[in-house]
Amino acid sequence: MPTETPIRLGVNIDHVATLRNARGGAHPDPVRAAALVASAGADGITAHLREDRRHIRDDDMRALKDATHLPLNFEMAATAEMHKIVSEVRPHACCLVPENRNERTTEGGLDVCGQHNFLTPFISELSNLGARVSLFVDPIDAQIEAAGSTDAKVVEIHTGAYHEACLGSDPKKIIAELDKIKAAAEYADSLGLEVHAGHGLTFQNVQPVAAIPQIVELNIGHFLMGEALFMGLAAAVKEMKLLMEDARSGGLY
Ligand code: PXP
Repeated sequence: MPTETPIRLGVNIDHVATLRNARGGAHPDPVRAAALVASAGADGITAHLREDRRHIRDDDMRALKDATHLPLNFEMAATAEMHKIVSEVRPHACCLVPENRNERTTEGGLDVCGQHNFLTPFISELSNLGARVSLFVDPIDAQIEAAGSTDAKVVEIHTGAYHEACLGSDPKKIIAELDKIKAAAEYADSLGLEVHAGHGLTFQNVQPVAAIPQIVELNIGHFLMGEALFMGLAAAVKEMKLLMEDARSGGLY
């Protein structure tokens, strides 16, 4: 019987902090959310410390690292300020993303080709701090090739365009975006990179992505936090994990 590679779920808990910050107090606590998603079957915790600290804050990163037994994936822009915080927090992984102050969420992948000379030593420094570095890239061969020539061990493929296509009514667009993700995952894997994916994944669109055999981790946040309002956070995480595992074992469609 063929054995498939298991697929992990990293839960992005940024928006627990968004809700907390709306009132300025300590509730709801991202650390408590991390413990809950861990007990519901999540395989990792992801948190994005943005330059403007609009959701997760420096103390959250420290508290998450101390309190959760799951691997902590520190999403960040490639800046000296973030480098310093990584050297204190020592997360399991760092996912480098482009950051633009005015965006609502990460809008595109990192331009690894265009910033290669700057990113290469930055990635090596993070790796020397013990972090497994991941680069968030669009499903474009040139970006993946550039990622493969750095010390990064992982690429996370941006699934935002696929998410957008799923909101429309043209199945050809959905298939075209999915094909880009599949091709990018195969290419990254052929270069020896571990392949993750994320952005805009939901109960409705996760399965075709989870079925791509080279992808070993999905990072999902906004949809899970929204669904938590209706079905509870633990139930939402459990349902997402079930859908991913079903897709992986061929049970989709
Ligand atoms: N992966 C990366 C690199 C991201 O920037 C984000 C959004 O913060 C996610 C995954 C999760 O995306 P979403 O919140 O749409 O599930």
